[in-house]
Amino acid sequence: MIFVNYKAYEEGSGQKAVALTRILEEVAHLSQVKIVPVVQVIDAESIVSSTSLEVWIQHVDPVSFGPHTGWTLPEEAARIGVAGVFLNHSEHKFDNFDALYTANKKAFEANLKTLIFAGDLEELKKICELAPTFVAYEPPELVGSTTISVAQAKPEVISEASEVAKTKGIPLVVGAGIHSRDDIKKSLELGAVGVAVATDIVKAVDPAKELLDLTEGFK
Ligand code: G3P
Repeated sequence: MIFVNYKAYEEGSGQKAVALTRILEEVAHLSQVKIVPVVQVIDAESIVSSTSLEVWIQHVDPVSFGPHTGWTLPEEAARIGVAGVFLNHSEHKFDNFDALYTANKKAFEANLKTLIFAGDLEELKKICELAPTFVAYEPPELVGSTTISVAQAKPEVISEASEVAKTKGIPLVVGAGIHSRDDIKKSLELGAVGVAVATDIVKAVDPAKELLDLTEGFK
């Protein structure tokens, strides 16, 4: 599977986000690879209503209904048809482990799937204790790279991460700098079930071509 993180890129915002999701859906259909758009909260409802793909958002907060100005409620994400949520991305980390624990718990209670990011093995081990739907290993220093991927730079860490995740029965996703079918092949060989990618697709001149190329890594 491929999670495509739209981040706050202009190419992944508003009507452009809806158009990009159409491309993801076409490629998912052509390749038969599961592709998940991970969109901004503000675009989620219009994207959910325009696609048959499972739609995720990039963050929820550890709160329920109440006086929480500017926070995102797991319940409301679920109500508009969002299927899952990223938590603890290196660009949106929780201040402390308790807040992450609560966000994951509340997301589950709202029937959202969760993917929690770890920047290293130590963090990954702690995160596995929270039993998210997926755990992801993304070394922050490689996020946004267009030349060096996690699969190229950290193969031994992916292997170890996959062992850790496997003992807990949690599927492992890897990300950071993913930009080729070989990155995906390698990641799967090392034990990941899929990848998270942003720049290579969202900022591509031809996102359909790039994404179709990545799906070849699953064959
Ligand atoms: O969530 C995936 C993302 O952080 C990876 O970003 O730009 O390195 O593909 P990028």
